[in-house]
Amino acid sequence: MDEGRKDGGPADAVPAANVFRVLRNGPLLARGDLVFADEAGAVLRRETAAALCRCGHSGNKPFCDGSHRQVGFTEGEAAAPGDRLQPIADGAAGSGPVTVILKPTGSMRLLGPLKIIDADGREHAGGRASLCRCGASRTKPWCDNAHRDIEFRVD
Ligand code: FES
Repeated sequence: MDEGRKDGGPADAVPAANVFRVLRNGPLLARGDLVFADEAGAVLRRETAAALCRCGHSGNKPFCDGSHRQVGFTEGEAAAPGDRLQPIADGAAGSGPVTVILKPTGSMRLLGPLKIIDADGREHAGGRASLCRCGASRTKPWCDNAHRDIEFRVD
């Protein structure tokens, strides 16, 4: 992944909440205290804002590079309200960072206090979610393991 900001400017202030907004037929706009990690838990980078690829075709994963327009990525059927977002684990704080775990062959797993605003504008709050980043899920934005069918892999 790219290293952080390169223009020498000050780091952005950390937003008070971790919010992931689904852009219809496009990326996931994330704002908050975002800690990107690999499956083993190694921290890859930390950001306060990012546009994350959901179509599976970006040349700069996990970030969107606009390729969703070229491939004609579409949302498909909307997921049901409240689908697949689990509550914050017992004892976990209601604020703090959210870890974005990037599985090379699968989903984007979010762990920590977070809110997701789906493509229909519905808000889902919780502490754990698994989102599609291969583009093939039938329950976007949630992962339904369709990445296995298309043998999705990020090298
Ligand atoms: S969502 Fe923009 S490149 Fe994949």
